[in-house]
Amino acid sequence: MNIGILCGGGDCPGLNAVIRGAVKALDRTDIRIFGFFNGYRGLMEGDYTVLDRNAVRGILPKGGTILKTTNRDNPFHYPLKRNGEIVFEDVSDELIDKANELGIDCFIVIGGDGTMAITHELAEKGLRVVGVPKTIDNDLSATDRTFGFETAVNTATDAIDKLHTTAESHHRVMVLEVMGRDAGFIALYSGIAGGADVILIPEIAFTIENVLKKIERRKQRGSAFSIVVVAEGAKIDGKKVTTGENEGNIINPEKLGGIGNAVALALAEQGDLETRCTVLGHLQRGGSPAPFDRILATRYGVAAAEAVLRGENDALVCLRNNDIETVPIIDSIKVLKSVDPAGELVAAAKAVNISFGDE
Ligand code: F6P
Repeated sequence: MNIGILCGGGDCPGLNAVIRGAVKALDRTDIRIFGFFNGYRGLMEGDYTVLDRNAVRGILPKGGTILKTTNRDNPFHYPLKRNGEIVFEDVSDELIDKANELGIDCFIVIGGDGTMAITHELAEKGLRVVGVPKTIDNDLSATDRTFGFETAVNTATDAIDKLHTTAESHHRVMVLEVMGRDAGFIALYSGIAGGADVILIPEIAFTIENVLKKIERRKQRGSAFSIVVVAEGAKIDGKKVTTGENEGNIINPEKLGGIGNAVALALAEQGDLETRCTVLGHLQRGGSPAPFDRILATRYGVAAAEAVLRGENDALVCLRNNDIETVPIIDSIKVLKSVDPAGELVAAAKAVNISFGDE
């Protein structure tokens, strides 16, 4: 039996731990494992390496992915150079032919919702696949947790801790923009962990007026500084802030960014405050995975290998009530997960006086 492993979409701390987990779990079998570089592009171009115990030695604590990744190469809309111009074509049949030529019986595909949407379509066309859910955003509904989220929350919490001391010294309002796409999980978790004063997330509509009221209340109680954590997908005056890039579909989601500056500017103008904005950006995706993510990613890698051996197909490994299970890939892409505005976590945050700018 031959198994292929590839990563799709943005990178995420823990990818290497998944690869290592799967390779080590299969090490005592006579299965050959092919690691394809740059996602499905590696399969199209025959760019791969054979993965064995030696190839995964020492990669557990390393961020990024030894297999590299890309969020550009969708086999159903694949960029090809024709007469000096880039044209997009459906190369999915060719891709499946290449997998058959190489004798790959099943692929372990590590990716987020965009990669899983592509992977499910390929499975429907005959490619055998087992998916592993990956994203720092934690927005895949099929699983309680995606690996990478914990590491991103740690980085964001560390940033909030650091912003506190400088904010306090200067009596400033510090706005921290964090990632998460249309889900506010990174903002909510890091905001609670870092003791933010205000958390603004896509799931809860806020007004600048309400945020200013909170900052004013703090001033009256003797705290002349405030920390505002804002998720990149939060809406100001009912609108998301985007860079205008990308189409806004599941494979090419619109590029978010800029809400932090917009909030900082609005607070400065309307509240006569001194504000500064920090955009945490890709620091949240870089670096060594936190222990929780290393463990979860290892469990996912092992579970994916076992699912392949059981003959599962078009299935996604996931974490449910701390057990690893498999579900149909389609279940992970139908609805994305988001913060429950009426949930216990938001209630707990409100109970410790964190404002969501909604009242
Ligand atoms: O989905 C993960 C994520 O980091 C989002 O939080 C963010 O909006 C996006 O990817 C950034 O993508 P890129 O690396 O393409 O700029």
